[in-house]
Amino acid sequence: MNLNDCYNFDDFRKLAKKNLPAPIFHYIDGGADDETTLKRNTDAFLKCDLVPNILASVGEPDLSTKVFGQKIDLPIFLSPTAMQRLYHHDGDKASARAAEKFGTFYSMSTMATSSIEEIANISGGPKLFQLYIHKDQGLTDNLIDRCKTSGFKAMCLTVDTVVAGNRERDHRWGFTTPPKLTLKSLMSFAMHPKWALNYLTHEKFELANVSHWTKKGSSIAKGVMEYINEQYDPAMSWKDAEYVIKKWGGPFALKGVMSVDDAKRAVEIGASAIMLSNHGGRQLDGSRSPFDQLPAIADAVGGKIEIILDGGIRRGTHVLKALSLGATACSFGKGFLFALGAGGQKGVEKILARMRDEIRRDMILLGCKSIKELNKTKIAYR
Ligand code: LAC
Repeated sequence: MNLNDCYNFDDFRKLAKKNLPAPIFHYIDGGADDETTLKRNTDAFLKCDLVPNILASVGEPDLSTKVFGQKIDLPIFLSPTAMQRLYHHDGDKASARAAEKFGTFYSMSTMATSSIEEIANISGGPKLFQLYIHKDQGLTDNLIDRCKTSGFKAMCLTVDTVVAGNRERDHRWGFTTPPKLTLKSLMSFAMHPKWALNYLTHEKFELANVSHWTKKGSSIAKGVMEYINEQYDPAMSWKDAEYVIKKWGGPFALKGVMSVDDAKRAVEIGASAIMLSNHGGRQLDGSRSPFDQLPAIADAVGGKIEIILDGGIRRGTHVLKALSLGATACSFGKGFLFALGAGGQKGVEKILARMRDEIRRDMILLGCKSIKELNKTKIAYR
């Protein structure tokens, strides 16, 4: 199996599974507790159907939309995800370059394995930085200042990870950052010699944005959950969000908003966007899917704030359903990470091309010339 055999999410996932040592594959693939929310995020898209209009003379549809004050060529972008260097030796550089080629946002995690400056140097595309509030305020401020200097377009603050979710697959496999050889993982690393060789012969692994501050997670191996619980402030509040909005001063999203009340409050404190997300089912298991929650959120704050739907997106039709119900744009994490694991930059380009082609084809089939024409009339519930 190679990249040319990858037509959809499941294909990229299969190839990534083949390429990656098990602890790393399961870190991407897994969710919290029983993984019910992880599954629900995608299943939710099945609850409603698309209703096409015919003879609409679409011609070539316009797939572009505007988010964070930036026109993007596709209504989907890359969600911020940690430690991309583990999935391919080019890591964030591969995804940033691929996103730029497709005219959409690359997002950088606080826990990225390339630094803000490195990515700013190699990509002129639109960049979003994902911030965690650290117990050490100096580090939070440092990250915001560097994003400003480096020309990042937008920032999001993750608000659903004040403590780490219970990812039992990571416990079972002994997943740490950087990867540590345990008796159990050793076999899996040995069975993926190509990955192991690439890992050892390319740029050293480190949490590049924070390694000047703490060696934990870079040269000192840590469980990811342990790292989160040690570094991030569990007492984060609305005051902190207001502080970041003020200090950053640019387009800003709260990432991990799920309730209507919180969405309204996000408008009040001056956020320009919310990312409707449950962290890919990796945090609070049993929580609602972003897509199920979208109509209520759009009803309450649509038109007052940008709504980014993040979670469960596997197909172009999922994006079209979300846009029809009021999302400004969508983002996906696992969707492109498996592609990164499957084939580096080429893999991410391939999944973005697949998504673009699906969205384009399905907009023509739906009878829509532009994203603006996607609305509730295109959706029927069972
Ligand atoms: C995760 C964090 C690091 O989901 O975003 O693993």
